[in-house]
Amino acid sequence: MKDLFIAGGTSGMGKGLAIHYLRQGSKVTVSGSNRLRGKEFLDEASRLGAADRASFIQADLLSLSENHRVILEVKKRHKSLDGVVLTAMQQFPKRKLTPDGYESTFALYYISRFVLSYGLTELLERGNNPVIVSIGGTGMTKGEIHWDDLNLQNKYGLLKATLQGGRANDLLGVAYAENHKGTKTRFILNHPGYTHSGTNHVAQPFKSILLVMGKLFAQTVDNSIQPIIRLIDNPPPQPLIAWDRTKAVDLSLPTLNKQDAMKLFHLTKHIL
Ligand SMILES: NC(=O)c1ccc[n+]([C@@H]2O[C@H](COP(=O)([O-])OP(=O)(O)OC[C@H]3O[C@@H](n4cnc5c(N)ncnc54)[C@H](OP(=O)(O)O)[C@@H]3O)[C@@H](O)[C@H]2O)c1
Repeated sequence: MKDLFIAGGTSGMGKGLAIHYLRQGSKVTVSGSNRLRGKEFLDEASRLGAADRASFIQADLLSLSENHRVILEVKKRHKSLDGVVLTAMQQFPKRKLTPDGYESTFALYYISRFVLSYGLTELLERGNNPVIVSIGGTGMTKGEIHWDDLNLQNKYGLLKATLQGGRANDLLGVAYAENHKGTKTRFILNHPGYTHSGTNHVAQPFKSILLVMGKLFAQTVDNSIQPIIRLIDNPPPQPLIAWDRTKAVDLSLPTLNKQDAMKLFHLTKHIL
């Protein structure tokens, strides 16, 4: 039985993991931006007889202050955590700035995960075999950090923003492991592969197209989360674990470069 927090646990892989661990008897808190999806999660938990072990925090993680509020809410519900799963994500076809002035993909895929990882470490260090799992595109080498234009003011594109977010998420894991040598919490970077999920915030007609494509070609959420469950239940001993579907990722990949990771860490501390 575990204590878990899942950012983005109201749909897709995050919800799949939340329901799996509720079935196992764990205590699970999830967050999501949409209140209705949160209610559906809580209703499902009630049907499983797990109402007293399930909580939902409504929060838009694009906002820095909302991330800090979520940390406080999680601390009210859990004395310790055995796992934090970072999976909140949506795509932004047009460049959009957050209330704090960050490009939205960067804010959600990286800044929010940075704040939650470091902000929940105290609870994780009190946990049993604790892990942070950040679900993204680890193992992919496309895309880069635009060091002089993190906010992508010049030539914004959805793919460019998503790839930068994915590379920043990789470096978050590397820097976290560097900064927590000798502590209990391990950081797991995961690429789940193409999965039949991730369309909540997509506008029509693309949403219908993606749903049909997903049904035809993608793995089910249930399949995608199996390797993640194995990693959470039996994490390898090293501080940083990078996993692409069912295989370990070579930690010497340029996308997992320690110098870049520490450069982004210090830059992030500065801009926050
Ligand atoms: N699906 C794929 O094929 C695939 C492939 C590779 C990697 N990934 C990665 O896997 C992760 C999970 O993807 P998924 O397919 O399971 O996604 P999903 O079904 O869309 O679930 C995303 C979760 O994030 C939440 N979320 C989105 N925007 C938010 C915001 N502004 N504030 C707070 N919560 C927010 C959603 O809640 P609300 O809807 O209520 O906002 C939902 O709970 C993502 O990081 C994605 O990049 C997915």
